[in-house]
Amino acid sequence: MPTIKINDVALSVNPGTLVLDACRTVGIDIPHYCYHPALTPVATCRMCLVEIKGQPKLATSCTTTVPPAPKDNPDAVVMEVFTNTPAVADARAGVMEFLLINHPLDCPICDQAGECKLQDYSYHYGSGDSRMGEVKRRYRYEDLGAKIVIDKNRCIHCTRCVRFTREISGGGELTVASRGSHLEVTTFTGKSMDQNPFAGNVVDLCPVGALTSRDFRFRKRVWYLKSVPSISRHSALGNPIWIDHEGNRIHRFRPRPLVGKETTHFISDEERYAYTRYNRTGLAPVAQLNGAPGSMDAIREALQSAGPAAVIGQGTFGCDAAQRLGELATSAELRYGSGDRTVAVVLPKYQTSSDGILNRRGFEERGFRFGDLEDLLGKVERGEVKAVVLLHDAAFTSAGETALLSRILKAAAFSLAMECEPSGLGRAATAWLPITNCAEESDFIVNHDGDLRRYQKALQPPKGVRTVPAWVKDLVAVPATV
Ligand code: SF4
Ligand code: FES
Repeated sequence: MPTIKINDVALSVNPGTLVLDACRTVGIDIPHYCYHPALTPVATCRMCLVEIKGQPKLATSCTTTVPPAPKDNPDAVVMEVFTNTPAVADARAGVMEFLLINHPLDCPICDQAGECKLQDYSYHYGSGDSRMGEVKRRYRYEDLGAKIVIDKNRCIHCTRCVRFTREISGGGELTVASRGSHLEVTTFTGKSMDQNPFAGNVVDLCPVGALTSRDFRFRKRVWYLKSVPSISRHSALGNPIWIDHEGNRIHRFRPRPLVGKETTHFISDEERYAYTRYNRTGLAPVAQLNGAPGSMDAIREALQSAGPAAVIGQGTFGCDAAQRLGELATSAELRYGSGDRTVAVVLPKYQTSSDGILNRRGFEERGFRFGDLEDLLGKVERGEVKAVVLLHDAAFTSAGETALLSRILKAAAFSLAMECEPSGLGRAATAWLPITNCAEESDFIVNHDGDLRRYQKALQPPKGVRTVPAWVKDLVAVPATV
C-alpha cells in the first residue's frame, strides 16, 4: 500500500483513493460543493483545492487520486499533500468570492439557512468582503412540478442535481442552459420533476438553498429541529433515515447515509413523504373489549382463559416486538407471519429487493412462518386454536390477506388485535390494544441483506399507548391472588 503525507502526517491508503477521501480519514475535512460520493466527479466548483508537492498549480482533491507505489519500494511516500498553506487559503477565499458574486443575501428567508454549505464555508474560508459593484443577476423562483421549487439566484452551478437525474434516477429532467454569467440550471421545456419518484433527493443534494421542497418550504427553521436516527419502513431494505422533529411533530424525513454504503444516500419520495403517517391527530385510541373501553385485567383474563393461542405478527414491526409477541403463542409452531406487500424495483442499481415487508428476516429468525395463514385458519376452524393475537398495520397488507385475517379472527373464540391506529380489521377483533408507531419507540430490524438496523424513539406517544413488549408483559402476568 502506498504511503502519502497529509500536512506531514503519514498514512497508508489504497492506490486510486481520492485525496479528498484520504484527508477525511485523518480528520481533515476539505470544503467541497460539486463532489458527492455517489456521483461522477466533475471538479467544477474548485473549492477543494490543495497543494501537492512537486506540482506547479493547486489540484482539485476530488479528482486527484493516490498513485500506486513503485514495485521495488511498496511503502514509498508517493505524494505529499498540504491543505493549510497560504496558497490554499487564498484560493478558497477567492472561490468563495466568485461563488457569492451573484448569490443573494437572503439567508433570513432561505430554507437552507442553518445547514447551508455556503454559509459554513463563507464563515470558515471566505474573506468576509466582496468586490462586486454591479447589480446582481435576478430570476424569479420557478416550480419544477408539485414537489420541487428552484430559486436560481442561489444556484452555484455545482451540477450535483443534474448529475443525479442523469446518473441515478435516469430521467434527465434537469440540465444546464446558457453560458457565462447567464448559466442556469433548468428543466427541458415542458418537463416537470413530478414523474421522477426520487425527485426529493435533489433538495438534499443541493448544497445551497436553490432547490427546495414544496412540502417543507418556509415551514420550519432547521435549527429548531432535532434529528433522530431511524429507518424507512417502505421495504425490506430498511433504508436509514433521519427523523427531523419538533414539538412532538415530525417535519421531514431525510436519508441518513451510512459510511461506505452508496445505496443509503437516496430514498424514494414515497418514503420521504411517509412522515405524515406518524403524526397523530385526534383523540388517543384506548384499549377496547367487545366494542367498549376495556381494562387490561379483563383483556388478560379473557386471553388466558380462552385456551391454546396463536400469534400473527406483521413483519413491519421491530425484533423486540416480535420476540415478545412470540411469547404469547402456546407453542413455537403457532407463530405466523403476515404481510404480502411488494414494491416495484425502480432503481435497479440501488434497490435490490422488491419485498415490501421491512423485518421479514427478523420475524423468521424468531420462529414466525410467513405465507402459512391458511394453515392457521384450519387449526382455528377445527378448534385446535382458540385464541389469536394479531399485530397489524393496515398500510402493509393486501386486500386478499386482510380478508383471510378477518376470517381467522372471526373463527377464533377470542381475538386480540394490536395496532397503532384502529383499522376495520382490528375493530372486528374481540379486544384491541393501541401500540406505539415506529417513531414513538426504539427497536431494531434485520433487513433484506441481513444487516441489523436500529431505530430510535423520536416522539412521545399519547397516554395509554404502549409498546408491544410493555403490553405483552401485562398480558402474560400472573393475576394476583387474594
Ligand atoms: S441547483 Fe443546487 S445542486 Fe443544482 S447546480 Fe445549482 S447549486 Fe448545484
Ligand atoms: S469539490 Fe472538488 S472541485 Fe468541487
